[in-house]
Amino acid sequence: MGFAILNGEIIERSNAMVDVEDRGYQFGDGVYEVIRVYNGKMFTVEEHLNRFERSSKNIGITLPFAKEQVKEQLENLIKKNNLQLGIIYMQVTRGTAPRNHTFPSGDVKPTVVAYTKELSRPTENMQTGVKTILVEDIRWLRCDIKSLNLLGNILAKQQAAEAGCFESIQHRGEDVTEGSSSNIFIVKNGVIHTHPSNNLILKGITKDVILDLCSKNGIAVEERVFTKEDLNNADEVFLSSTTAEVMPIVKIDGRKVKNGSPETVTRRLQALFTEEIENQCGKL
Ligand code: PDD
Repeated sequence: MGFAILNGEIIERSNAMVDVEDRGYQFGDGVYEVIRVYNGKMFTVEEHLNRFERSSKNIGITLPFAKEQVKEQLENLIKKNNLQLGIIYMQVTRGTAPRNHTFPSGDVKPTVVAYTKELSRPTENMQTGVKTILVEDIRWLRCDIKSLNLLGNILAKQQAAEAGCFESIQHRGEDVTEGSSSNIFIVKNGVIHTHPSNNLILKGITKDVILDLCSKNGIAVEERVFTKEDLNNADEVFLSSTTAEVMPIVKIDGRKVKNGSPETVTRRLQALFTEEIENQCGKL
């Protein structure tokens, strides 16, 4: 199982225990991040740590460590676990206190936990593309916070799994929001459309890397709300996340997207994204 970080200390993961009254356990009262590691190096680490800080602040948790300290702890954890290719999972909760909905008093310290997991790149799915289903987005109205409360997301993902699909594409009425653990993009006449990063979706780090790559490479993007109908008429559809990178979607609710195989813009972005990983983390 290797090592984990508990409140700044690297310890055997099997010794990393939290109390039954930890508020993360009881209320989902905390936030998290998933960071990719390639060649033993963290990809877009600054962006993840900034979002971690922002999510924490949004729910009134003050992180007990400065960003630079967290980064150093995570680097040490990667070394200690000898992780080359995988992810870091990190979360902070409001801490342990007698169960009560209101926040505990100020002397209760947040619980910070991190551990690593080996995970290869999903190369086969990236090659062939994946199947998805549409589901109603039943989540709360602060999806911009990377909250531990993931019930809406896991129910959506489970529906996808039961339908033999990789992901659920969520919609509020006619408007497509995001995947259960990914952001969604369509391509129409060479232009990429994706939901604006407001309170209804998570501002994905992978999404932002893609938007940046588009602007640097002259690929047109419109960050605007698109509908289920737009999705059905799209030339290409893909999703993005830390673990899935740029993932082509070839079927939605059993219907083929265009020709049912990954298309040009998606392929180009996959290549640009791989280049970006190599720029930051070295040759893959
Ligand atoms: N999920 N939207 C949701 C709801 C997500 O949970 C995620 C990430 C994303 C993509 O964000 P990013 O590009 O920063 O990974 C969008 C992570 C990977 C997870 O929960 O495992």
